Amino acid sequence: MSQSNKELRHLILQTPSKEEHKITVHDGDVAILAKDLAQIKLRGFTKDGKEVEKQVTSFDPGFMNTACCESTITYIDGDKGILRYRGYPIEQLAERSNFLEVAYLLIYGELPTATQLDTWKERIMSHTYIHVTLMDYMKSFRYDAHPMSMFIATMAAMSTEYPESNPTLTRRDLFEFDFRARNQQIFRILGKAPTIAACAYRHRIGRPYNYPTESFRGYSYTENFLYMLDRLSESDYRPSPAIAKALDVLFIVHADHELNCSTAAMRHLTSTRVDPYTAVAGAAGALYGPLHGGASEAVVRMLEEIGSVDRIDEFLEGVKSKTRRLMGFGHRIYKNYDPRAKILKEYAEKVFAEVGRDPLVDIAVELERRAIQDEYFVSRKLYPNVDFYSGIIYRACGFPLDMYPLLFALPRIAGWLAHWYESLREEKSAAKASIPGATHVMRARQTYVGDIDKSFPTEEERNSKQSITIDALKTYHSNLSKRRKGPHKELA
Ligand SMILES: CC(C)(COP(=O)(O)OP(=O)(O)OC[C@H]1O[C@@H](n2cnc3c(N)ncnc32)[C@H](O)[C@@H]1OP(=O)(O)O)[C@@H](O)C(=O)NCCC(=O)NCCS
Repeated sequence: MSQSNKELRHLILQTPSKEEHKITVHDGDVAILAKDLAQIKLRGFTKDGKEVEKQVTSFDPGFMNTACCESTITYIDGDKGILRYRGYPIEQLAERSNFLEVAYLLIYGELPTATQLDTWKERIMSHTYIHVTLMDYMKSFRYDAHPMSMFIATMAAMSTEYPESNPTLTRRDLFEFDFRARNQQIFRILGKAPTIAACAYRHRIGRPYNYPTESFRGYSYTENFLYMLDRLSESDYRPSPAIAKALDVLFIVHADHELNCSTAAMRHLTSTRVDPYTAVAGAAGALYGPLHGGASEAVVRMLEEIGSVDRIDEFLEGVKSKTRRLMGFGHRIYKNYDPRAKILKEYAEKVFAEVGRDPLVDIAVELERRAIQDEYFVSRKLYPNVDFYSGIIYRACGFPLDMYPLLFALPRIAGWLAHWYESLREEKSAAKASIPGATHVMRARQTYVGDIDKSFPTEEERNSKQSITIDALKTYHSNLSKRRKGPHKELA
């Protein structure tokens, strides 16, 4: 397949029995339409000898090689280590832009003019207050509730505040035709998400929630967030500009990363036309998993465990003998240095100049230096990813470990909303409607490998084979339940 996409229109697929099928090559990346595979029918025999004919489907657990949408938001070339938002290199955006501007770029496709940026910022920053019932709801969580769980639950609860903006309760195509309604949800979500995150943090540390700053014109998005996290009784509290800038850069590099697991979840949920609060809560749920948003925390734990530069070789031996994994290294898409890791490595030094050098960084830099020269990592194309340095910056800034997934989720909301917005445009576009499935609810296929035809068993038949042992159905009880376990004996 060396021709350009424009030259290649069809592939001819030949089955072992020499039947030929014309498979359409889709514009964009070289991709075939999976639906075309259904025209190929394969004949075979079941275990009991019946002849069957079945349509071919593609089988791709883990989505290793399946595209599920067209997108113009983020471009990644994993072999060359390139990341661009709407065509702009991530390095230039991190150096010359700011998070709110980048969020605008991701959602609307262009960098804003000065007037657009002013209005955009004003709209978002005047939607930072959350309803008092949501604050009460957050106060009802356990004292030690994980901030990310509180965030997910409160974001989902936000949908109850805006029934008029809920397609389930109004009209299914509410957002497809009413761009004002669409934008209003974007302002609300981007405006209120940092407030919810800050309340979750304050809850966790046992301090009263702060309201957003009233003088928002003088505060950036990240400054307002830091203000809500850290203000005590000062009436004029001002966060450190260096930390606010570092957080802004962290927010830019985390804002989107095409169809990663949480963004795919966002697309999946929004294909049902569910309201965007519920969809963002669902996407955040995917990000909370240790294999997605948990790696930066794992890096810090790993560096703490290594403890000193002279223990690096011993650790690397463990990695190479596969008893350990070098966290923050390797990536499904990048087979080169992750460009975000390069940016953050430089930024770490700027943060240390403000807050003092974190001793873990010396271990990290030396660990990276030795790993990228080692045959094990070179041959497998394993390089530092974004999480290798982000955790160290969070730690140096004094964020507790359980805030790390939330610090990742907050900026990623811009990416999720960009994909929401794009999928709504797809819905409207007549051109896109010609792509099979583009406007449909996302519904994966499975290959069924279980029993097909069974009769309800008699009691004797059922009792004769027990597949799950009774022990497996028992659960563990807290000490409280153990204390309550009877029958109680009389004291002698
Ligand atoms: C991100 C990650 C899941 C990508 O996995 P993947 O693309 O499916 O790659 P694989 O797991 O197939 O790994 C390919 C090979 O590299 C090895 N490898 C991958 N990442 C490794 C790591 N971090 N440390 C040590 N070995 C690693 C695998 O053991 C495998 O070796 P093998 O060919 O001898 O079996 C994986 O690199 C990883 O677990 N990294 C650490 C966690 C992390 O930083 N996650 C954040 C990602 S942004």
